[in-house]
Amino acid sequence: MNHPEILLLRHRIELADSLAKHTQWASSIGFVPTMGALHPGHLALVERAALENKAVVVSIFVNPTQFNNAQDLALYPHTLDRDLALLSTLLHLGTPIWVYAPGAEDLYSDGVKAQSFDFQGLDSVFEGADRPGHFNGVGTVVSLLWKAVPAHRVYFGEKDYQQLCVVQALKRMEHRDLEIIPCPIVREPNGLAMSSRNERLTDSQRNRAAWIYQTLQEVADRGRAAAPNRLSPHGLRSLVTRAAQEAPDFQIAYFDIVTEGGMTPVDQWVTGEKYRALIAVVFHGVRLIDNIAL
Ligand code: PAJ
Repeated sequence: MNHPEILLLRHRIELADSLAKHTQWASSIGFVPTMGALHPGHLALVERAALENKAVVVSIFVNPTQFNNAQDLALYPHTLDRDLALLSTLLHLGTPIWVYAPGAEDLYSDGVKAQSFDFQGLDSVFEGADRPGHFNGVGTVVSLLWKAVPAHRVYFGEKDYQQLCVVQALKRMEHRDLEIIPCPIVREPNGLAMSSRNERLTDSQRNRAAWIYQTLQEVADRGRAAAPNRLSPHGLRSLVTRAAQEAPDFQIAYFDIVTEGGMTPVDQWVTGEKYRALIAVVFHGVRLIDNIAL
């Protein structure tokens, strides 16, 4: 490979062979796990991985064990050709990109089922409460992917903040010698966090969905340590309840304030502690999540 290129690999063994042939990159591999349907949010992770490593592996696998809703899984877009074209726009950075897009039987050699983890409660609230078993599915697939991809740095988006906390716990539980790199949320110009689910909204609904980030910004403005008349966590919850009463097209699945890295809702501020506000809404039948640092 004189010029960097995209290599598409369907099997773990091919990936291992290909990596073994290129020992010059073996010391610095960045890994970006995805479910495909790539958008600029994913590409920002891949770009960062390309800048910080000698080679990048992107996995594209719609993981059945993390869907607790068959319809959600059935609706998930599969756009491999488009994904490869988008990834090739990053080759100008000079870093080769391997795409590992396995079938379920290649990744799950012991049968497609979720393992059960003890994430110490991190997985039972918020997304985990609304989607039982979801984080066991995420943990299972991420663990299998870590075995398949000998990565030094693994890139995750803060968009899925709870997922980020769960994979950090998984790394500790499995004593994995890799670095998890959290990456900031990429947003549409109107502030809506980019997501493959946004495709299910019309243009005017997408404009309207900017409400979510506007509300979070208000929360951050009123809740940050330096805010004049800073609201308490309870005050911020009331603020969102009131905002939602005026926006009945958004059903709040949850809103809460947690400490950074933990998933326990807080009742009072502690000096020096960092906080994050998490929200999930259902808007025209589409479940959207977002969060903001306070
Ligand atoms: P997926 O939803 O495809 O997301 C892949 C990665 O892209 C995740 O780390 C996610 O947080 C990040 N991401 C998505 N939208 C983003 C945005 N707007 N800004 C920044 N980062 C964003 O998350 C998953 O897949 C799966 O659960 C996976 C980890 C691959 C396991 O199956």
